[in-house]
Amino acid sequence: MPHTEREELTPEESDQLLLLPGGYPPLWNHMDSIGSVGLRQREGAPGCSQEGLPCPSDSSELVLECLQQFKVTKTQLRQIQASLLGSMEQALGGQTSPASAVRMLPTYVGSTPHGTEQGDFVVLELGATGASLRVLWVTLVGIEGHRMEPRSQEFVIPPEVMLGPGQQLFDFAAHCLSEFLDALPVDKEGLQLGFSFSFPCHQTGLDRSTLISWTKGFRCSGVEGHDVVQLLRDAIKRQGAYSIDVVAVVNDTVGTMMGCEPGVGPCEVGLVVDTGTNACYMEEARHVAVLDEDRGRVCVSVEWGSFSDDGVLGPVLTTFDHALDRESLNPGAQRFEKMIGGLYLGELVRLVLAHLAQRGVLFGGCTSPALLSHGSILLEHVAEMKDPLAGAARVHAILRDLGLSVGASDAELVQYVCAAVFTRAARLCAAALAAVLARLQHSREQQVLQIAVATGGRVFERHPSFLSILQETVMLLAPECDVSFIPSVDGGGQGVAMVTAVAARLAAHRRLLEETLAPFRLDHEQLAAVRAQMREAMVKGLRGEASSLRMLPTYVRATPDGTERGDFLALDLGGTNFRVLLVRVTAGGVKITSQVYSIPEYVAQGSGQQLFDHIVDCIVDFQQKQGLSGQSLPLGFTFSFPCRQLGLDQGILLNWTKGFNASDCEGQDVVCLLREAIGRRQAVELNVVAIVNDTVGTMMSCGYEDPRCEVGLIVGTGTNACYMEELQNVAAVPGDSGHMCINMEWGAFGDDGSLDLLRTCFDANVDQASINPGKQSFEKMISGMYLGEIVRHILLHLTSLGVLFRGQPTQRLQTRDIFKTKFLSEIESDSLALRQVRAILEDLGLSLTSDDALMVLEVCQAVSQRAAQLCGAGVAAVVEKIRENRGLEELTVSVGVDGTLYKLHPHFSSLVAATVRELAPRCVVTFLQSEDGSGKGAALVTAVACRLAQMAHV
Ligand code: BG6
Ligand code: GLC
Ligand code: GLC
Repeated sequence: MPHTEREELTPEESDQLLLLPGGYPPLWNHMDSIGSVGLRQREGAPGCSQEGLPCPSDSSELVLECLQQFKVTKTQLRQIQASLLGSMEQALGGQTSPASAVRMLPTYVGSTPHGTEQGDFVVLELGATGASLRVLWVTLVGIEGHRMEPRSQEFVIPPEVMLGPGQQLFDFAAHCLSEFLDALPVDKEGLQLGFSFSFPCHQTGLDRSTLISWTKGFRCSGVEGHDVVQLLRDAIKRQGAYSIDVVAVVNDTVGTMMGCEPGVGPCEVGLVVDTGTNACYMEEARHVAVLDEDRGRVCVSVEWGSFSDDGVLGPVLTTFDHALDRESLNPGAQRFEKMIGGLYLGELVRLVLAHLAQRGVLFGGCTSPALLSHGSILLEHVAEMKDPLAGAARVHAILRDLGLSVGASDAELVQYVCAAVFTRAARLCAAALAAVLARLQHSREQQVLQIAVATGGRVFERHPSFLSILQETVMLLAPECDVSFIPSVDGGGQGVAMVTAVAARLAAHRRLLEETLAPFRLDHEQLAAVRAQMREAMVKGLRGEASSLRMLPTYVRATPDGTERGDFLALDLGGTNFRVLLVRVTAGGVKITSQVYSIPEYVAQGSGQQLFDHIVDCIVDFQQKQGLSGQSLPLGFTFSFPCRQLGLDQGILLNWTKGFNASDCEGQDVVCLLREAIGRRQAVELNVVAIVNDTVGTMMSCGYEDPRCEVGLIVGTGTNACYMEELQNVAAVPGDSGHMCINMEWGAFGDDGSLDLLRTCFDANVDQASINPGKQSFEKMISGMYLGEIVRHILLHLTSLGVLFRGQPTQRLQTRDIFKTKFLSEIESDSLALRQVRAILEDLGLSLTSDDALMVLEVCQAVSQRAAQLCGAGVAAVVEKIRENRGLEELTVSVGVDGTLYKLHPHFSSLVAATVRELAPRCVVTFLQSEDGSGKGAALVTAVACRLAQMAHV
C-alpha cells in the first residue's frame, strides 16, 4: 500500500498536515469512534455487499487506510515543489522534455497592464469552467482604478459538442456569440474579440495559437495541431451575423493575471483552480530559450497540470487516483491536474465513498447505481458536504439524491473523506505555487520576494477554504516570500479585454506598417515592366538616342585569354575603399599586394586638384613601401564613375555619382587629371595605360577564371552593370564585327521618369537630401549608399504615426546617414535576428519593444527585397539581350559580381538570382563573386593592352 512507504512524521509536521480545515479535530484522535460506527447490514438488498463485511475494528482500519492515502507530508510537498521547479527550469532551457513534464509555454504578453487601455471588447471564454462557455462585453475606461461592470452570459455546452467534431464546437461558440450580441445595442461590424482558450497551446503570436492537446472534459476531433483562432474566425464567418475580429487569444491564467486590479505593485502570477489547474507568471525573457529575446519579461503559462514525475508523485497517488485516471478521457495525462482540478475532486470522493460502501463501512454496505456512475458527485457537493457546520445536513440531502441511505455516523465519515480530498488538492496546489515563487525568487535574484498572485476559477471564488489552506501551506513551503493573493476581476474577463486592447493597438499598427510597405512589394508584372523598360532604354542608349542609360563603350573588346604576363600597378577608386595595388601576372597565376587609403569627405567633395594630388600621394606612399620607387610600371585605373571613353586610356568624366563631387573634374579626361597631378609631384613616373569602370574590372577579374563571364555587376556603394555587346549594335564605335564591353551606367536608369510609378515618397525624400537630386534613380533604390537612408525615412514616418518607438523619435534618428546599410545586413541576418535589431537601435538611442524590433526587421526586409528584385530585373534584361543578340534558344552565361551589399547581405544574392530565373527563364546564369576586387581586372585590361601594343610593335 502506498502509505506504508511514507516516512514517519515529526509531531510538528503531523499537526500541521493532519489538522483538517474549518475546525476539524485531528482525525486520528477520533478513529475509535469512526471505527465503531454502527455497521448495519442489509442482507440481500441490491447493491449491498453480503459477504465478508468487516467487523468494527476492521472497518476502522479500512477507513484509516483510505484516508491515509490522501495524506501528503511536508517532505513530500517539498519534493514535489523541487521536482516541479526542476521540470520548469528544464523546459525553460529548451530541453525537450517528456509529455508528462510541465510545458512552460510563452505567451505573447510582455507586460502587465498599464491601466490606460480602453475600448469595448467582446470576450469569449472556452474551457475554464467545465461544460460552459461565457461571453462578456467589457468596456475598458482607460483610467486606472475605474471599472464598468461587464455584461455576461453563460451557455451550457452539450456533452456531444464537447466530444464531437471541432467544427461543431466552434460553430456552437459562434452561435452563442451572436445570441449574446443580439441582446445588446451594438454594431454588427468592427467588433474586437479576445478569446480565452484554456488548454495547452503553442502560441506564435497574440492571435495565433495551436492546440497541443485537449485537457479536462474536452475531446473534439480535428482541433489538436490547429490554430484555434483561425477555427473561431472561420466559425464566425460561417455564422455570418457579425463581423468580429479575433484580436487576441489567451490562457485563462493570463486573463486572471492581467485582470487583477494593480495593488501596491503589479500582479505577476496568475493562478487558476477551476475545472483544471494551472498558473502563469512573468519570466525574464532571456531565460526562455525558445524566444529570441533577451530583454524584458514575458508571461509563461506553466501548464503544471501535466506534471507527472513518478518519483515524487508516485507515492502520493492513491488507488483512487489511478482508478480516476483510467476512467478519464485522457488516461496517463494531466496526472497532477487530476488531483487538484475541480473536474476531478467530486469524482475522487465518489470513488472513495463507493469503495467504502462496497467494503461495508458506509451506507450499510450498500451502493446505488448513481454512486457507481461517473460524474454523480460534483465539486460543489464536495465543498458543501465538508462544511463543518451545515455539511452534515448537506451530506444527507446530496447522498439521498444519489439513492443512498445515510446513517447518522456515515455523514461524519463522508465529511472526512471530502475534507481529505479537498485539503490534499489545496496543499498540492500550494506546492506548485511555491515552485513558481522559488523560480521567481531565483530569476529575480531576490532574497525576499514580494509578489501579488491573482487567483481565479470557481474553486477560489466559491470555496474560500481552498485559499486558506493554500495560503497556510505556501507560508510553510516558501516562508521567505511575501505573497498577497488578489482575486481577479470578472473571472479574468477584464484581463482578456486588456490583452485584446493591446493586441488591437498592435494590429492597427501592423495595418499602418503594411500600408507603408505595400509600395515596396513588387509583383511579377511590375518587375517584368522594369525589365522591358530597361531593355528599351539599352537599345536607345546603344543607338545614341535619348535614354537614361548611357551605354558607354569601354574599348575592352575581349576578356583575358590567360597569356597576359607582367607587373602592373592598379588604382581602385569609387567604392567603399580607395586602393593602390601591385598586380603580378605570371604563368603561375595572379599575385596581388594592395593597400587601402582613405579619401576623406572634404577631399571627395573638394577641388579636383586636391583629389588627384591626394591620389598621387597615396601612390607614392605605396611605391615607397613596396620598394617600387623610380619604376614606371604600367598602370590600370579603376575609376567607378560614368566616363565617355574614346580609347582605353581616355575617359571623360560625365558627372560624379555616389559621394563624390570634386570641382573642375566633370567634362575632363580623368587620365589627364591624373597625369597632371603626377606632373605636379615631379618625383614619380607613371604610365597610365587603361581606365576601367569597376563593373568592367570585376568582369575581367572573374573572366580570368571563367571564360563565360560576360557580365559585370556591382551592388555596393553604387550599382551598375557592364556586358559584352555586339560591336555592330554600338553606334558610337565604328566596326561591324567582334564585341565591346559596354558600361551601362544603369544607376541613372529612370532619370527620365520611367521609374516614377515605382518610386515612393521615401525614395523622393532620399533623393532630395542627396548631393545629386534627380540623378541616379535606379541606384538610389538599390545601392548601399541609399538603402539605410530609405529605411531611416520609413522609420521616421512610422514613428510619426505612433507605430514605432511609442511615437518618440530621437534626435539621432533624424540625423542623415545614421542608419547604415550594413545595419540591414546585420538585422536581417538569421542567426542574430531580433536581439541584433535591438542592440543596433539602442545604439541609436532608441528604446524599443520587441514589437518595434520585429517591425524594424520587416522594414529592412521590404527595402532590401525591392532592391534585390530591381537589380534582378536589370540583370534579366541584360542576359536576355545577350541571348537574343546571339540568336540562342538558351544562353549559359556567368556574371561577375562585387560590392559590399551583395556580398554581406544575407539574402540579397539569392533574391537577385531568383528574380533572374523568373524574368529570364531561357538563360542559365551563374553568379561569380569577385574575391580580388576590380583592381585585378584593371591590371588585366592593362596587361591585354600591353600585350597587343607589344604585338603591334613587333
Ligand atoms: C570592390 C571593387 O571590391 O567593390 C571596387 O574593387 C568596387 O572597384 C567596389 O567599386 C564596389 O563595392 P563597394 O561596396 O565598395 O562600393
Ligand atoms: C488545464 C489547461 C490549462 C488551463 C487550466 C485551468 O490545465 O490545460 O491551459 O489554464 O486547465 O483552466
Ligand atoms: C556608380 C557609378 C558607376 C559605378 C557604380 C558602382 O553608379 O556611376 O560608374 O560602376 O557606381 O560602383
